[in-house]
Amino acid sequence: MGGGVAKKIVCRCEDVTIDDILEAIERGARDLETLKRMLRIGMGPCQGSHCIPIAASILARKLGVPVEEVLPPGYRPPLTPTPIKYFLKGGGESDQG
Ligand code: FES
Repeated sequence: MGGGVAKKIVCRCEDVTIDDILEAIERGARDLETLKRMLRIGMGPCQGSHCIPIAASILARKLGVPVEEVLPPGYRPPLTPTPIKYFLKGGGESDQG
């Protein structure tokens, strides 16, 4: 209990906290797309694989609806993140010295 209030991060890539999400909902966000536009949540390198399910559950709880109602249709988070080396020139399979 050091007197300070710890930030509760939801989206590490874009540094978005629970308080940011709650404030955005207070300002009128009613779906994930609006939260993305307002906060950039889910737009970082992991493409929301960590934060979108958490943001969806916060949003659903605040709206009093099942979480399935706020997730985009057909949304499925990636089973495993793709390593960044596969997106970099010269990375991945070939090793041409
Ligand atoms: S944790 Fe949110 S985009 Fe990566």
